[in-house]
Amino acid sequence: MGSKNINKNKDIKQNTSPYKGTTDTYPEDMFARNYLFNTWRTVAKSFGYEEYDTPLVEEASLYKAKSGEELAKKQLYTFLDKGGREIAIRPEMTPSLARIIAAKRKELKLPIRFFNIGRFYRYEKPQRGRMREFFQLNIDILGVGENTSEIEIIQFIIAVMQKLKAPKETYELRISSRYLLDYLYDEILKISEDKKPAITKAIDIFPKIDRENFKEYLEDLNLKEDQIKQLEEFVQWDLGNLEAIRDDSKGAMELLNLFSILEKLEITNVKFCPYIVRGLDYYTGTVLEMFDVGGDKNPRALFGGGRYDNLLEIFREEKLPAFGLGWGDVTTLDYLKTYNLLPPYTPNTKLFITLMDKEYIEESFKIASFLREKGINTEVQLEKIKLSKQLDYANKKSIPWVLIMGEEEREKNKVLLKNMKTSEQLLLPVTEIPEKID
Ligand code: HAM
Repeated sequence: MGSKNINKNKDIKQNTSPYKGTTDTYPEDMFARNYLFNTWRTVAKSFGYEEYDTPLVEEASLYKAKSGEELAKKQLYTFLDKGGREIAIRPEMTPSLARIIAAKRKELKLPIRFFNIGRFYRYEKPQRGRMREFFQLNIDILGVGENTSEIEIIQFIIAVMQKLKAPKETYELRISSRYLLDYLYDEILKISEDKKPAITKAIDIFPKIDRENFKEYLEDLNLKEDQIKQLEEFVQWDLGNLEAIRDDSKGAMELLNLFSILEKLEITNVKFCPYIVRGLDYYTGTVLEMFDVGGDKNPRALFGGGRYDNLLEIFREEKLPAFGLGWGDVTTLDYLKTYNLLPPYTPNTKLFITLMDKEYIEESFKIASFLREKGINTEVQLEKIKLSKQLDYANKKSIPWVLIMGEEEREKNKVLLKNMKTSEQLLLPVTEIPEKID
């Protein structure tokens, strides 16, 4: 029965498309991805952050604890392993990070500055900026309760954007605080606990719909007229509104303090936006997201993050203040493409060794080994075909240097080194190649 099924599958024509919401990454796209990852990694290290990793799978309960309904129920990829455990493919890093910190809490020196670039899965409707498989840079600082960690991470963000040569007018960092919502709910709207999640969702939707629809959305939540008005005002608050409640709201006080430091540091692409609330349950204070504001092609956040001072409690561990963000590759590569900020694809190979005669192949391998040891990425022609075809291959792959070795050259113990851009040719011994190639 089993073997019959296998035979049956053999006859089915397999699909060449990847699974819905995932992409195959061919070398040119890999080049772009690596450019972004190298930038993230270099800047993170320059700030003293250390790289870590965690398994791709976790017990599903880890996400049910504090990641929020949307992620834990609708978007989680889960399966039962052979031992009957419910396993999830990680949809985000923060719970895993909290787990590995909680496991070694006593040994790790505070503050902990950690970063990771990893792959994640969410069962989402694929659309621009949203895939089922994606990467994130996670950068987090744990053990600092002061807003100096916010400042440091914001400095990191700006440093990455500068290294990516992003024009200042095309991006905006939007910041608010979860504590401000507490003030809104308890001091202004005076609503019960059960109504809060729906209102938080409405606030989150505000920038995505027009004013009229927003009003209708609020009306559907059975709010009183004055509450609707208060909410319509709240989502448009600016720093002036925060001044007025500075002494009564922890959120207002913290945000004002943060903005005054940012001003002194001349960091300007940052805006207070009360409608930034973030979808994940574990956030406690500052929350932030970054948007492309240079046009309307990329409406989704490039990254999102915030403070999560209580997450270690799910491991029955003492609280540990924490702040960090998850920066997506999909949204960021879309952004970089939109503004033509990706460097042109350059292949790795520096030099291509042609093959004039089958007999010369061993010589080719020897020369290639010598050149690779000298740090020159070298490709070898493995089959004897017409020289013009070999040169055509090198040309198409934009390999800048070609080595030609015919009978004449071999007699002189030399090779011809051809610059593919200028067509200039040099007759020289192999040992002199490294100094000729930049
Ligand atoms: P998040 O807002 O769920 O936060 O995701 C952060 C970023 O990951 C998004 O802004 C987006 O760039 C990218 N992203 C999320 N889902 C997708 C998707 N389906 N397709 C493509 N890109 C996606 C978190 O994950 C938090 N754990 C971040 C964090 C770290 N907070 C503190 N530390």
